[in-house]
Amino acid sequence: RREVKAECFELHARAQRFFQNALAARGAEKARAYLDRRHISHDMRERFGLGWGPDSWNSLKDHLQQLGYPQEAGVTAGLLSHNKAGRVYDRFRGRIMFPIHNLAGQVIAFGGRGIEEDQEPKYLNSSETPIYTKGDHLYGLFQARRSISSEKSVLLTEGYVDVITLHQHGFSHACGVLGTALTPRQVHRLAGLAKEIILLFDGDRAGRKAALRSALMVLSEGVSCRVVMFPEGEDADSLLRKKGRDVFADLLANARDGLAFCLAVVRENESPKEIMRWAVSFIQGLKEVSWQAFYIPKIAEGLGVSEKELREAIGQPGTTQSPKAIQLHLCG
Ligand code: CTP
Ligand code: MN
Ligand code: MN
Ligand code: MN
Ligand code: MN
Repeated sequence: RREVKAECFELHARAQRFFQNALAARGAEKARAYLDRRHISHDMRERFGLGWGPDSWNSLKDHLQQLGYPQEAGVTAGLLSHNKAGRVYDRFRGRIMFPIHNLAGQVIAFGGRGIEEDQEPKYLNSSETPIYTKGDHLYGLFQARRSISSEKSVLLTEGYVDVITLHQHGFSHACGVLGTALTPRQVHRLAGLAKEIILLFDGDRAGRKAALRSALMVLSEGVSCRVVMFPEGEDADSLLRKKGRDVFADLLANARDGLAFCLAVVRENESPKEIMRWAVSFIQGLKEVSWQAFYIPKIAEGLGVSEKELREAIGQPGTTQSPKAIQLHLCG
């Protein structure tokens, strides 16, 4: 087992260097032009180790073979795929490669973005491997970890390019959730470094839904949270490009309190009966019972329900717990 993992790490390091060299080489003019169009600086290309997966069925495959690795190892590492007939070929073809690092700085997976309009899927990501479990890692956390610690705050985005554009504009405490829903494991990682998570999800239906779901999860894990809402159709990258650093900094400074955001969404979208049910399940879902005293009054007020009714529905009328502990935990 240990050897399999070690070989996966090694193959990812090899592949990363291969993709990075390919981006600088002849034949990658289209890829460099794409990065130029997205205004991704050369500093950021270096910092995030961006590369190019050539538009070929066997460029990485041949490279790994020359280095002496068995094909099966490349398949196990998720860098090569095989068809039903057993033919092995490069998984990432014609894509800008975004390496995903662990906190030790080792490459453990890749995201690959197609550079053509009609290339499907837009992003192709590594599947799970012996060294990569979805929902355990965050994109850019390795590059952002020091800034997150010193700012005591983390900017959390949906996309790869969002993270890079934020770093390029000096917001180097940004990292990304990697396409899937935010998990408690990811929140715990961030909670170890930051006191507050600021969600910067896309200004579209999927982004708003993810923001609500994520904010609730962050809060129920006992971590403080704020939410930035972008105009329809914009994300952190597009807005920062359009409006610049100062406007963006204002947006961050005015980020909405995560709980207020959730309560407003619930109040606007649910019937009174559903609102009460929602409130009860949120409170019962809190990781520590002692946090209830902090949340109950806020939730009652934010949802326009009676505190007494809410307590009764939860089944613990007239609690006298001090809200101080949770308040400190939440507000840092
Ligand atoms: N994503 C994915 N697979 C897809 C589409 C999206 O894994 N087919 C993930 C990627 O991590 C992507 C994120 O979800 O970065 C957000 O999706 P989207 O907003 O559609 O992409 P952007 O990051 O805005 O991509 P770009 O700006 O490059 O168009
Ligand atoms: Mn989106
Ligand atoms: Mn999308
Ligand atoms: Mn987006
Ligand atoms: Mn985008």
